[in-house]
Amino acid sequence: MNCAFAAELALSLDKPGVAVSPTLYGAFFEDINRAGDGGLYAEMVQNRSFEDNSQLIAWTPLTNANAVATFELDRSTPLNSSNPTSLKIHVEKTGGGRAGVFNQGFKGLPATIKGPETSAAWQEKFAAAQRNPANGLAVESGTAYRFSVYARAESSAPALDVSLETQSGEVLARGRVTGIGKEWKKFELLLEPGKREVDARLVLSVDAPGTLWVDMVSLFPRDTWKNRGLRSDLAQMMADMKPGLLRFPGGSFSEGHILADAWRWKETLGDVAERRGSWNIWGYRSTNGLGFHEYLQLAEDLGAEPLYVAHVGMAEKDFVPADQLEPWIQDVLDAIEYANGPVTSRWGSLRAKQGHPAPFNLKYVEIGNENGMGYSWGGGTRADYLPRYKAFQERIKAAHPDIITIANIHTEPNAPADVVDEHYYEDSNWFFKAATLYDHYDRAKPKLYLGEYAVKKDAGHGNMLAAMAEAAFLTGLERNADAVLMSSYAPLFTNPQWEKWKPDAIVFDSTRCYGTPSYHVQRMFAGNRPDVTLPVSLPKSDKGDTMLFVSAGLRKDTGDLILKVINRGAAPENLNITIAGPIRKYPRGTCIELSAESPTDENSFAQPNKISPKISALPVLGAKYSRVLPPYSVTVLRWSK
Ligand code: AHR
Repeated sequence: MNCAFAAELALSLDKPGVAVSPTLYGAFFEDINRAGDGGLYAEMVQNRSFEDNSQLIAWTPLTNANAVATFELDRSTPLNSSNPTSLKIHVEKTGGGRAGVFNQGFKGLPATIKGPETSAAWQEKFAAAQRNPANGLAVESGTAYRFSVYARAESSAPALDVSLETQSGEVLARGRVTGIGKEWKKFELLLEPGKREVDARLVLSVDAPGTLWVDMVSLFPRDTWKNRGLRSDLAQMMADMKPGLLRFPGGSFSEGHILADAWRWKETLGDVAERRGSWNIWGYRSTNGLGFHEYLQLAEDLGAEPLYVAHVGMAEKDFVPADQLEPWIQDVLDAIEYANGPVTSRWGSLRAKQGHPAPFNLKYVEIGNENGMGYSWGGGTRADYLPRYKAFQERIKAAHPDIITIANIHTEPNAPADVVDEHYYEDSNWFFKAATLYDHYDRAKPKLYLGEYAVKKDAGHGNMLAAMAEAAFLTGLERNADAVLMSSYAPLFTNPQWEKWKPDAIVFDSTRCYGTPSYHVQRMFAGNRPDVTLPVSLPKSDKGDTMLFVSAGLRKDTGDLILKVINRGAAPENLNITIAGPIRKYPRGTCIELSAESPTDENSFAQPNKISPKISALPVLGAKYSRVLPPYSVTVLRWSK
């Protein structure tokens, strides 16, 4: 490659800069775009507890011309008060065949944010989505699936046939539930399909007249990630990011559209059949199968510090009056006790009962999400937030002085904050410029958490331009790691058929997933986080513009030297590195390079690895090293002693 210009970079190994926190590169999980229910949470049945809508959705009656049967939502004898609705199956005549209903998993539907719609037009839209095969209930041959159902009957009940079938009725696996009595009882079966089918149906049917009720109809793959009930491929993509931090459960998801929909952690504990689901601000109902305990467990499994976004009594549209916050504050204190308290404490004992006697060591609690930012869509102004923030912050600190509290806005000078969470969804130019955003940040101010950020405005569905700009921004966070403690890209997941927000880091449907270029940048940066920075100055091109963005640092454990360089330009750039300091020889090195032919290039289901990191060996490093950086590239160079 021809390079008109060579940028010079001088590194002094004996002049280290600032310490880099292990939490600098984190992950933010929010149930948006079906990230949770229908995504990471491996439940395969949509509307399993019949609470999703006031009409029967995601379930379709089996049509048999001669049958006389009704399928109705019924609230006469609830399974429990959290899940009051069940499905009443009343069969007068089977018409010589069978009568029942089927579920096709999480076939997509453009979501509404306004609430659970029941209009005829929406019903038609939903029915159309159910005919879309692209995101069906997918089963693999050679894999077992755990089916469970709660059922009860009026008097003598017919047996309930349970089958996995193709759309044309070919049976892939079958089981039979017998002994259904007058009281609710849980029944379980293992279904093992003989062949793969990406667009299957789970059919519940009877072949004799009778009346029965079913609720909590569930189908999970037997093998889930670490046996935690999580989809293996999606959880593994998170694990591969090596996040130092896991922020949960949202985002706007945690606030709720209105207070009645707020995520209340106590409603997300214990038996999933007892958990009240809630309307998710992103346009569907969440089961809360992913609950507080599951998030803490996920953080532990990922080796990440949990960061709990606590509700500050402010939903997007309505707030708890400032003098009535006590139960909401107590909720947060109880959450901390659940996570960290001894097994002899009220909430710690519940954690132990859930199978985790050891504390989870929750250190970070964020007081609200995006509250006080004065957004047009809600969430409150600074004046709304400050008194509520103060009330929570003072009580948390009084009860748990070691908890690091995080504010949504710069509360100083009115109230202290350990850390302030800043969110940025801007265009790529903003992010390139923001590589220096914190170079002059007043170090007397609170530490920073970049809790949500992504190039949004010119990112397509996640293109190379966005990835480069975010990488440039991250070099700035790394260089200023004395001020910036943590960061997390947002959002993490999208199922395009349920998409409310783009771009996202990981794209999935029922069988596939891939990372956007931004996802790869996250992995490259988190997997190569230094413990201490080496000061660098940004090399300018001959035209005076900043085409290259750089950060450098050392690992304390191995002594590895790590350099990250972004070339945002259309031309290759030559980088000459001079290394001064005591240790000048690094015998082994690895280069990880992410590049694209065009900044607008993206990955897709058809070409999931079009833009993916290429790994190569580096020559022995001495006092000097030169490298040509390809156009539109993000490069990590790592040398070991
Ligand atoms: O990440 C998507 C959304 O952006 C989050 O839910 C919210 O906090 C922000 O406005």
